[in-house]
Amino acid sequence: MRIVSIVGARPQFVKAAVVCRAIDRRHRVEHQIIHTGQHYDAAMSDVFFDELKIPVPDHHLGIGSATHAVQTAKMMKCLEPVLETLHPDWVLLYGDTNSTLAGAVVSSKLGLRTAHVEAGLRSFNRSMPEEINRIVADHLSDLLLAPTALALTNLTREGLGARCVVTGDVMLDANIIWRRAAESQVGEFARQWVPKQFALATVHRAENTDNFERLQPIMRSLERIASSVCPVVFPVHPRTRKQLASIGWTPNTVTAIDPISYLEMLLLENRARFILTDSGGVQKEAYFAQVPCITLRDETEWEETLANGCNVLTGADEEAIIAAVERVHAAGPWSDFYGDGTAGDNIIRALHDR
Ligand code: UD1
Repeated sequence: MRIVSIVGARPQFVKAAVVCRAIDRRHRVEHQIIHTGQHYDAAMSDVFFDELKIPVPDHHLGIGSATHAVQTAKMMKCLEPVLETLHPDWVLLYGDTNSTLAGAVVSSKLGLRTAHVEAGLRSFNRSMPEEINRIVADHLSDLLLAPTALALTNLTREGLGARCVVTGDVMLDANIIWRRAAESQVGEFARQWVPKQFALATVHRAENTDNFERLQPIMRSLERIASSVCPVVFPVHPRTRKQLASIGWTPNTVTAIDPISYLEMLLLENRARFILTDSGGVQKEAYFAQVPCITLRDETEWEETLANGCNVLTGADEEAIIAAVERVHAAGPWSDFYGDGTAGDNIIRALHDR
């Protein structure tokens, strides 16, 4: 069986790393990786390949950043000839980025069998580019590899249930595989936080970074937390850094740092008192670590995390964020909605069975 994975952005490298490990354990599975180049800075791409020992991509399209249409169109144009020469049995897509969207359109139009890892997620907010990408990828894919029972319910509602297999969540596999390495291998910066009581924050969603009415109250709340509750460690995505520069924000009490690696992030997530984020992946990683999460969005596609106050939606409302911080001690208990850490194997089995 020949599988081709299409990746391009940070969270996809982690998901593909789990699939690579599952493939390594099998004979007679050939795997090729196409990197679209959506993320290109070393800290956004190379570090993940090095740390998680992901094979060097067989094809690198070098697309880079652009508007959604231009970026997706360039990816499609470059993907078509590559996929035509590879003749894969399966094209594997991950998550909800523009690389997922481009892969879904090209692969399905070439008549290649296409499978979508992390299928069935819905925020029901179509102003999110990721929601559009998920819907298109799910509707075009032949096999929908859903992380949870709720994802299957969403797909069934859209008439896609028959194409779906619930596999568990590859991000949980990653968490289990690399948790110990995170404790032992990361450098001094992340390690210095381990004994401290600190909060971890990430902000990168366009709906927050590109709307100053939202970005400003979020940043004010982070500064208030850092000055009156506990230190706040804030790895800053390049998109966010640019927007913060345009509103003239410079850190006062917040510890703003460059993007960090997966293992560093895992360590900080596991040791944080609480996490503030607008990332889907980080919400789940907080859940796996049983660390209370405050989500700086109005809705989430990971609805299970909201049970028992484990994750609280505050949007960008400064007072709601501060009120949520005051209640983090009441979060829990956490459940096991995301499988048992065998999603990678379940995915390869599902591809093989079909
Ligand atoms: C993308 C995904 C998002 C995912 C995120 C993970 C889409 C629509 N969004 O968002 O779902 O959660 O990746 O990080 O695909 N930039 C750099 N260096 C890089 C990459 C980006 O400086 O290596 C800057 C550029 O200014 C770029 C901006 O970040 O324009 C946004 O990058 P882009 O890939 O368009 O989207 P993300 O915000 O990273």
